[in-house]
Amino acid sequence: MVDLTTAVGAVGLPNPGMCAPGTAGHGAELGAFVDLAQLGAVVVKSLSAGPWPGNPAPRVHPLSTGMINSVGLEGPGIAAWAHDELPALRRAQARVVVSIWGRSVEDYAAAADALAEHAPAGTASDPIVAVEINLSCPNLAGKKMFAHDVGAAADVITATAGLAYPRWAKLSPNTDALVAVAEACAGAGADAVTLTNTLLGLVIDTDSRRPALGGGGGGVSGPGLGPIAVRAVWEVARAMPELPIVGVGGVHDANSALQLLMAGASAVQVGTANFADPRATIRVLDELASWCDSHGVATIAELIGAAHP
Ligand SMILES: Cc1cc2nc3c(=O)[nH]c(=O)nc-3n(C[C@H](O)[C@H](O)[C@H](O)COP(=O)(O)O)c2cc1C
Repeated sequence: MVDLTTAVGAVGLPNPGMCAPGTAGHGAELGAFVDLAQLGAVVVKSLSAGPWPGNPAPRVHPLSTGMINSVGLEGPGIAAWAHDELPALRRAQARVVVSIWGRSVEDYAAAADALAEHAPAGTASDPIVAVEINLSCPNLAGKKMFAHDVGAAADVITATAGLAYPRWAKLSPNTDALVAVAEACAGAGADAVTLTNTLLGLVIDTDSRRPALGGGGGGVSGPGLGPIAVRAVWEVARAMPELPIVGVGGVHDANSALQLLMAGASAVQVGTANFADPRATIRVLDELASWCDSHGVATIAELIGAAHP
């Protein structure tokens, strides 16, 4: 029997497998296919303080390396989410990571306030274990990503300091300032970083001679993103070995998960793979346990950062 338990900073998890935000809905949708309590955690699609319509269709497009999306963060807002979705996650006994986003520092502060108001920490059977702060959404027209700017990223983390939960900063692979931004987030109080969000991309529909996605460009994800995420985790782990990291990008089997763990991630998220197989996270966990068994690995903890000299 392999010991799969892990921890992202102060957040203890029974295993390192989570579903990535935006690929498993806002609530317990995935529960139709898997026992949500068996996942390390369920990370819900990014929420803003109020409802947000998202981008025009088409919103997703297949690629040979995965997919590209421009969903544009459609969501019901935190009050409606806490009322309509959170109870089912609680009943499923899932550990919940709430992802929040905003278009300004004030928006992030408002999302943190709304969470404190509508899903207060410390209540009996509170399923929320952490808040992931999405600083890296690629689908906001005309807006620079917070995760591309050391000062802006730190300002968002500071603005959410009132949250009673551990805060994970979700960063972008589209910048050469990744390590500096991760350092700035940690310095401003982030408990962990999540690496990474999607790569910026654009697909042209050659029949219409226009972008294939309604929002124009989008975010590239799936197996092709794997090595980019591994590199991001590697670089940040090397610069800040004490900072907990959640790895995400291209995880679809044991090998892709193992690479992120060995690069320095304490846990991994599975995104695009959920669309082809909603049981993907559980399957990856099963494959991970089998790999450990066949390689004489007794505990997943011994693999974390194992690739570093
Ligand atoms: C359709 C779609 C929607 C997404 N929505 C979000 C989101 O709301 N918040 C977020 O932080 N990341 C979002 N992401 C990014 C994923 O969480 C993940 O970082 C990325 O897809 C890389 O992982 P993967 O290669 O396993 O898909 C989305 C990705 C996809 C494919």
